[in-house]
Amino acid sequence: MARRKKIYEGKAKTLYEGPEPGTLVQYFKDDATAFNAEKRATIEGKGVLNNRLSEFFMTGLSQIGVPNHFLKRLNMREQLIRAVEIVPLEVIVRNYAAGTMAKRLGMEEGTVLPRPLVEFSYKNDDLGDPLVPEEYIIGFGWASQQDLDDMIALALRVNDFMSGVMYGVGIKLIDFKIEIGRHYEGDFQRLIVADEISPDSCRLWDIETGRKLDKDVFRRDLGDLADAYTEVARRLGVMPQNNPQPGKPQLIN
Ligand code: C5P
Repeated sequence: MARRKKIYEGKAKTLYEGPEPGTLVQYFKDDATAFNAEKRATIEGKGVLNNRLSEFFMTGLSQIGVPNHFLKRLNMREQLIRAVEIVPLEVIVRNYAAGTMAKRLGMEEGTVLPRPLVEFSYKNDDLGDPLVPEEYIIGFGWASQQDLDDMIALALRVNDFMSGVMYGVGIKLIDFKIEIGRHYEGDFQRLIVADEISPDSCRLWDIETGRKLDKDVFRRDLGDLADAYTEVARRLGVMPQNNPQPGKPQLIN
């Protein structure tokens, strides 16, 4: 990986300088972390699956006009993306109570919410990404009121798309997180979906059985994470039958 300049290394991905100005190469690692990296493991093949799945979701979003950072997949673990300035917020959409919401409000996981609810966390690992009210976001200048309105609209469009796609393959989209970036074209700036969309950042439950097909499998020791992600990819037709096995990356054109 020494062949190009590393721009940023996160918990599950690394960003390298791209071939052209305004582009980056996003490399998906096999590393899994939870509880603010207190729990860690390497899950063979996870990076390959998430690269494919994020490509699939971002491509679908582009087709329905939801702007995002994806340009093209380069190989098993890498994709070319637009360089953006990440807004320091995690945008979470919830359709059913689960995770921190269920805990905070004493709700049973799986309780249907009256409508999709959008919430924001401040992206700061040292603080454990605390939930923040919109008043803080504007007051501290992390985003303007217009940005907030745009982010909520983007997040709800992603939710409609993802819920529909998942429903079509027998999976309930419980909640998910996206990150949003500022993309500059000359003087013009717009907000686009960035980072990744994968089972690392969604809660996905099988509609029939309730089986969890997302990172909760790792967080809660519910079985083999790669099996769960492979099942999502298989249902979506994302992993071609004759593809090399995850964990044995090979370059493809
Ligand atoms: O933990 P919590 O219930 O707040 O998570 C809501 C959703 O956001 C889940 O789908 C979870 O996977 C995702 N999330 C994430 N990264 C974080 C926090 C939450 O992808 N740092």
